[in-house]
Amino acid sequence: MEYRTIILGAGAAGLMCAAHAGPGTLVIDHARAPGEKIRISGGGRCNFTNLHAGPENFLSGNPHFAKSALARYTQWDFIDLVDRHRIAWHEKTLGQLFCDGSAKQVVSMLLAEIDRAGADLWLQTTLRDFRKTDSGFSLELDREGRRVTASCRNLVLATGGKSIPKMGATGLAYEIAERFGLALTETRPALVPLTFPEGRFAALSGLSLPVRLSNTRASFEEALLFTHRGLSGPAVLQLSSYWREGEDITVDLTPGLPLARSLRAQRQREGRRRLSTELARHLPARLVDHLSDTLDLSGRLADQPDAVLEALAETLSAWSLTPSGSEGYRTAEVTLGGIDTAALSSRSMEARQIPGLFAIGEAVDVTGWLGGYNFQWAWSSGHAAGTEL
Ligand code: FDA
Repeated sequence: MEYRTIILGAGAAGLMCAAHAGPGTLVIDHARAPGEKIRISGGGRCNFTNLHAGPENFLSGNPHFAKSALARYTQWDFIDLVDRHRIAWHEKTLGQLFCDGSAKQVVSMLLAEIDRAGADLWLQTTLRDFRKTDSGFSLELDREGRRVTASCRNLVLATGGKSIPKMGATGLAYEIAERFGLALTETRPALVPLTFPEGRFAALSGLSLPVRLSNTRASFEEALLFTHRGLSGPAVLQLSSYWREGEDITVDLTPGLPLARSLRAQRQREGRRRLSTELARHLPARLVDHLSDTLDLSGRLADQPDAVLEALAETLSAWSLTPSGSEGYRTAEVTLGGIDTAALSSRSMEARQIPGLFAIGEAVDVTGWLGGYNFQWAWSSGHAAGTEL
């Protein structure tokens, strides 16, 4: 069978690419259903883009690489598409846009778009072997148990990253890229909870509070969630992309609050109040209890000199913790790193040395923050390649 273009992976990037590709396009996926990560994303409501998406919200070996694709297919273009399909949406927080109804609407929208473009979709199809030919590529496929040979002029790698192997994630795009001599950058789990020695935060499990979480590379003011395994919540997922094993992270438990000044003022008004009771006005009582294991929070406000209140405020704004690891690809939302952007054209996503070979989406070394940025990269890079095919 001959196709002009074969896209490996019917996820966010692959479907978007097929919607813009010319006639003679085939999309292949080993899963039973297309767009499974879209379906489960955003708690079933799909955080499909972010109003503030821009190149500064992405990590990559080359921070300029994503600019062209993001500029040519923006969040406004995707919002326009969603509106044309009459999918109702809302902004949840920090520019994050979610479906009012279900993430399945986004999958249906993309399937309608590839149908309109006339692309074929083969599910439950695996790649057994592939080779370069004079005119393109030849693929040996296993389609629902039958062997099929398909050839194409253009081959698009859109099989995503390694995150959540249980959902069918594989390193196929990396393997193919490597076989064609494309370089890979180090891959690691990102947007992932950080773990601590067993029991470290067991008493706080389920507690969530707004914090500023930082390390030497980045800083995020969002919610932190204590879990049985360690720390999670948006602030932790965000910083995990910038964290490396053995490094400390710093939690400001009272972001934006002049705590020392507030404690001093309260000492004037209600000096008989216990220090721990006063702190529990600013922090969850369970956390104050936990902190009192290591900090002296006994006594009344009136007994605390300025220096003690200042030192306490300083400690609470710079609580230093050393995670023992992360939950890994089992729960990571994305894979950091991937196919080195140096091998690709930033305009078309085509491999510079292998004409006709393209890579898009999460498989490429472009990783977004939490908040709809990763889907925006899938849409933008899928569009960049699709319009070139
Ligand atoms: P994607 O993973 O979507 O698609 C790859 C496709 O390739 C899959 O259909 C897979 O079955 C197929 N495939 C893989 N290996 C194959 C093989 N060997 N043979 C054949 N087919 C193969 N992002 C965001 O912006 N907003 C959000 O709300 C969320 N929420 C979210 C929740 C959860 C739980 C996860 C795990 C991830 C998110 N993300 C997210 C991240 C987002 O899902 C991700 O960045 C995009 O889906 C990446 O799109 P791709 O098309 O590159 O890969």
